[in-house]
Amino acid sequence: MLNTTYSILVADDEPSVQSLLKDILLKEGYKVILAGNGEEAVCSFRQYSPDLVLLDVRMPVMDGIEAFRLIRRENQEVLIIMMTAYGTIETAVQAMKMGAFDYLVKPFNLEELKVVIKKALEMHSMSAELKTLRQELADKYNLGNIIFKSKAMQEVLNLADIVSKSDATVLLRGESGTGKDLLARYIHTHSLRARGPFVKIHCGALPETLVESELFGYERGAFTGATTRKPGKFELARGGTLFLDEIGEISPVIQVKLLHALQYKEFERLGGTETLKTDARLIAATNKNLEEAMSKKEFREDLFYRLNVIPIYLPPLRERKEDLPHLVDYFIRHFCQKLKRSPLSVSQETLTLLTAYDWPGNIRELENTIERAVLLSSGPQITPQVLPLSINKYKDSQNHLFINSSERPLKEVMGDIEKHIIKKVLEETGGNRSRAAEKLGISRRALHYKLVEYGFQTEE
Ligand SMILES: Nc1ncnc2c1ncn2[C@@H]1O[C@H](COP(=O)(O)OP(=O)(O)OP(=O)(O)O)[C@@H](O)[C@H]1O
Ligand SMILES: [Mg+2]
Repeated sequence: MLNTTYSILVADDEPSVQSLLKDILLKEGYKVILAGNGEEAVCSFRQYSPDLVLLDVRMPVMDGIEAFRLIRRENQEVLIIMMTAYGTIETAVQAMKMGAFDYLVKPFNLEELKVVIKKALEMHSMSAELKTLRQELADKYNLGNIIFKSKAMQEVLNLADIVSKSDATVLLRGESGTGKDLLARYIHTHSLRARGPFVKIHCGALPETLVESELFGYERGAFTGATTRKPGKFELARGGTLFLDEIGEISPVIQVKLLHALQYKEFERLGGTETLKTDARLIAATNKNLEEAMSKKEFREDLFYRLNVIPIYLPPLRERKEDLPHLVDYFIRHFCQKLKRSPLSVSQETLTLLTAYDWPGNIRELENTIERAVLLSSGPQITPQVLPLSINKYKDSQNHLFINSSERPLKEVMGDIEKHIIKKVLEETGGNRSRAAEKLGISRRALHYKLVEYGFQTEE
């Protein structure tokens, strides 16, 4: 089980000790590499990078302590266990201070030897696991800040702050990559349930039967393969928040079950008879047009109203371009740190291209673009060369305004341009007309008149 993949380097100058250890370790299922002195040990270490090294202290050519130093210098993580005869215990203790895992005294107690090795490897794999988990967590939370400047996002955050203080069900809506996941976590961590669990289920990624068993759990024997009882997300989210991501994707059958759970705050495990209570706070998210799904009878209206107690709409990035430079800065800093490279700035030309682009994949697309750009940049500045072609070309494609311009009446061409600029400024100001008018240098009334003229708005 545990042993099969681990390899152990044994360094001892005595052939009898080598063969004894080899036999025992092979029988335990480890791979074994042998070395006859310190120098060989270091060479073999470089060649095979074993998981654990058993080092004799007194060896010819290079002793165990020196080999220990050299191996440590190459690898801070590898497990080293010293082997020592009676006269060299002090040296072994010295190695312990330098970070050896343990030491074994010759003649060996074979049981002790096996146990010490097993413990060492177990600890090692546990700490490796912990490290990955911590890293994952750190990565997640490093990118956990919500960066914004726009008024539209300020309003979103204000609303999120208010709802986080209640247990009301929230429905997060917005295009893919606009930050729904991020906001769901934000609401949880700012709520009174912050110390409780945040449990997420991605309804779109799972087949129907799995969504059901994931949500409600199952009893042993509920279906083939259900060998033990498993709690569902509703149970796991007790005292915390249950985040139902991609809620628009759930099947009609699950919709009914979910509605029941929301209405009565209770549910049953699959194959179970016991009714369980749930107190989880619900946040649902979707990028789907649920109104349309309802009109096609794909999504239940009663469920929609249960979920839609507090709707929060995350505007697409193209409607809040004021956020863009801040997000760009933030992601550059993050990825420079993550990829361990010196700080980068962004050239004006690059920023202009990034601002002109319409970001169909929203902030996720921007994040990926910046990661790629940081990776590809060789100088101190991010230049347009490291941006994808689609972004480089986008701005030019906007010049379609001038297509056939010499063959069309001047008023029409000028109108197109004016229309384009007004649209752009409105996007940049998040739809705020006073600020748009100010930016355009015209009165609010004139802006209103133009909006009607260009069909952005009907006459009031
Ligand atoms: N305002 C923001 N500030 C910083 N990072 C953000 C912001 N909004 C989104 N992000 C980052 O953009 C990425 C996409 O966000 P998220 O996963 O929350 O989007 P989503 O709306 O859930 O998308 P989908 O509908 O595809 O699930 C994440 O890495 C997130 O951390
Ligand atoms: Mg999401």
